[in-house]
Amino acid sequence: MKKLKLKKGAKIILIIIVVIVILILGTCFGIKKYNEYKYKQTNEYKLTVVGYTLDESKKIINKLNDENELYFVNNPKNEYIIKLLDETYFMEKNLSEYLDYIEENNSNSLQDVVAIVNVHANKDWYDEKTVKSTDLSKEEKILVNKFNYLDKSYVPKDIVNIDLSYAYSDNSATKITNDAYINMAVAAKKEGIQLLVNSSYRDCESQQEAYDDYYYSGGTEYADKYAARPGYSEHQTGLALDIFTYNSTTSNFDKTDAFNWLVNNSYKYGFILRYPKDKEYLTGYNYESWHYRYVGVETATKVHELGITYDEYYAFFME
Ligand code: DAL
Ligand code: ZN
Repeated sequence: MKKLKLKKGAKIILIIIVVIVILILGTCFGIKKYNEYKYKQTNEYKLTVVGYTLDESKKIINKLNDENELYFVNNPKNEYIIKLLDETYFMEKNLSEYLDYIEENNSNSLQDVVAIVNVHANKDWYDEKTVKSTDLSKEEKILVNKFNYLDKSYVPKDIVNIDLSYAYSDNSATKITNDAYINMAVAAKKEGIQLLVNSSYRDCESQQEAYDDYYYSGGTEYADKYAARPGYSEHQTGLALDIFTYNSTTSNFDKTDAFNWLVNNSYKYGFILRYPKDKEYLTGYNYESWHYRYVGVETATKVHELGITYDEYYAFFME
């Protein structure tokens, strides 16, 4: 009798254990299913369904805002987005322009696409829909190019003449530019390099004349490669200097020791080579080995180290 009672107790305990185990397993299963359901609602999962790997979908989520994330969730896999996100100068505000540009011009590298769109070179130079009055508050870091203009009456406040030991006659620049230039020219001279400025501050009328010289010899397209239209020249800022040495011209200056010296040293004095070789598609101008722009030592050093044009630097770090 006693034995039977024990067996009954054991049965009950067994049943309780089985019920508990079923409950635990059921709960675990339910939680798992719920978590799976919840995960399937996330963009991370939805992106993997579109075709991105888990790492790629994580990258999209980490780097893009909700609206752009959703674009990639709701569209077929884009073969460029992951590489674009890895580009050093990728700017999310330009994302749709990058993608449009890639679609329309499939020969460019993504690095170029990012640079072109960042500096707006995917748009027409001087287009009235794109040009804007430049931000004067940036002072010596101001950007003047084919999209950013100065009022035609703009005259820098503190223009001074450049000492004739280091310039041809009638050259002037803002005081900060002049002081930096003289320091640089003195340092160069100590190393046997003679720097000579032959063009510097130009008001709007002088710029018109400079432009017209090119225009009358080759038309608009030709002139636009060599000279800025009035209002769009850095020379009107008083921060730009055309630097040469004895017996040098625009066609041979980059073969001179003076040019080499400037390439290696001008940034230490706050100057950058503004229109580098092979960057015409970004700056809008042919290579000008003689045109230096004062931006201050810190900025010039960064531009020099990064090896990018000022247009790219400004778009990424200043705009
Ligand atoms: N030559 C440069 C681009 C200017 O005219 O400002
Ligand atoms: Zn110049």
